[in-house]
Amino acid sequence: HETDLTQGLLTVLRQNLLTGTKEGCASGDCGACTVLVARDGVVQTVNSCITPTGAVLDAGVLTVEGVAQDNLLHPVQKHMVAQHGSQCGFCTPGFVMSMVGGLLEDAAEMQHRTSAVHTISGNLCRCTGYRPIIAALQEASGDPQLEAAQAHLGWLYAIENTQQRSASYIRPTSLDELLQACQSLAEHAEEGLLVAGTTDAWLPVNRDYVDYRYVVDMSMVDELAQIEDVGGELVLGANVSHARLQQYFGEKPHHCEAIRAMLRRFGSPQIRNRGTLGGNIAGASPIADWPPVLLALDARVKLIDFSGRSRSLPLSEFFLDYKQTRRRPDELITAVAFKIPPDWSALQVFKITKREEDDISSLLGAFYLELDDPRQTITNCRIAFGGMAAVPVRIAPLEQVLTGLPVAELNESRVDGLLRQLAEHLHPITDARATAAYRLEVAGNLLAKVLRGIKSSSELSLTDLSLETLYPLPGVAE
Ligand code: FES
Ligand code: FES
Repeated sequence: HETDLTQGLLTVLRQNLLTGTKEGCASGDCGACTVLVARDGVVQTVNSCITPTGAVLDAGVLTVEGVAQDNLLHPVQKHMVAQHGSQCGFCTPGFVMSMVGGLLEDAAEMQHRTSAVHTISGNLCRCTGYRPIIAALQEASGDPQLEAAQAHLGWLYAIENTQQRSASYIRPTSLDELLQACQSLAEHAEEGLLVAGTTDAWLPVNRDYVDYRYVVDMSMVDELAQIEDVGGELVLGANVSHARLQQYFGEKPHHCEAIRAMLRRFGSPQIRNRGTLGGNIAGASPIADWPPVLLALDARVKLIDFSGRSRSLPLSEFFLDYKQTRRRPDELITAVAFKIPPDWSALQVFKITKREEDDISSLLGAFYLELDDPRQTITNCRIAFGGMAAVPVRIAPLEQVLTGLPVAELNESRVDGLLRQLAEHLHPITDARATAAYRLEVAGNLLAKVLRGIKSSSELSLTDLSLETLYPLPGVAE
């Protein structure tokens, strides 16, 4: 079949009668459309509803039709049946794909409940419940038929590069080629689109039926996918995926537990596999998780215009208004950079959601607090929140008060004053995720928790900051 590369992968699969892959939310939230993509020996789960077909042009794709072989159920399917892991069945193909993917990555690891839960955390089931599904994955990991079944999966390698319409899907592999391709974007106006992981940028295709005719996909440009320590500055390329960042911040020498824990609950495995750091910032969503963390690290954004001129600016100046930034239409983000903290434990991140996995933050608080040795004075302080305003915000007045403050002065009345000050600078909205009052109260509680942490890790004897004095946030009660 001829394939239109600017159409979504799920649409193309289903048009080609591979209808086992389902459309649930069409926005990357439910996992019903999960397929596996293999490129350069790496296999990843992706949400096919928000993946353009052009993005998998040279990759292998495995759909649920390729899982069972010779009329024999794959062990994952066999144990799903045995455990009664499916009722209406709509979510089941997506679950099966995530499970097969998890077993390909590390079969033995899937015996552990925590790993099994993380593996299926991007798939929602509304009727069966998760217990039997988790049990099916754990049992499949020890199934004697597993190895043979995994070796005989029916991968598709034949998505043809034939374009039916006047549409173009361009995937440059160098920065020069990318800039050249981008120069034509202006000619295509709203039919043109610059994308990387498409976890956000592809939503208008499904939601508003936007028909992009000229798509420039920057995800194959390796120069923008580097992580480098340049003289004490950590430079993270715009194309670096959240999955890669999760791995990086879990390894030496830059192990950072706060970032690692945040990323474990960032989107879903499918989203982390495709989504990029640059995309998370360029989208300028007030509830994006990276911006407050990077604001607390005092990061800079590096940009390049389509004629090759570079500039950088502090992230704190980058966001202008709701989904608006200082990035000009003829610019793209190349990297984000920040000074490597002398001690990563100075960073604390709290992601507040209704659901543990695969959920959008009601708010996210990021706190960077450096203390001198022997922890008597706060020497450096940055406080940032996402989900509390139209843009991610830093609370500069509070930072000024705290910087240089002797820890011994963090008494009850001082903390009360700080919490009041925080409330003055935050103006959250009420929406489906949380009320404004809830957001304000939680933000205050997070600040209180961080300040209490300084106290408890200090050798100094301080006045107790009791729960009664810290909850609720003064002036915001009820
Ligand atoms: Fe829900 Fe794709 S259909 S994630
Ligand atoms: Fe019905 Fe999962 S079996 S949604």
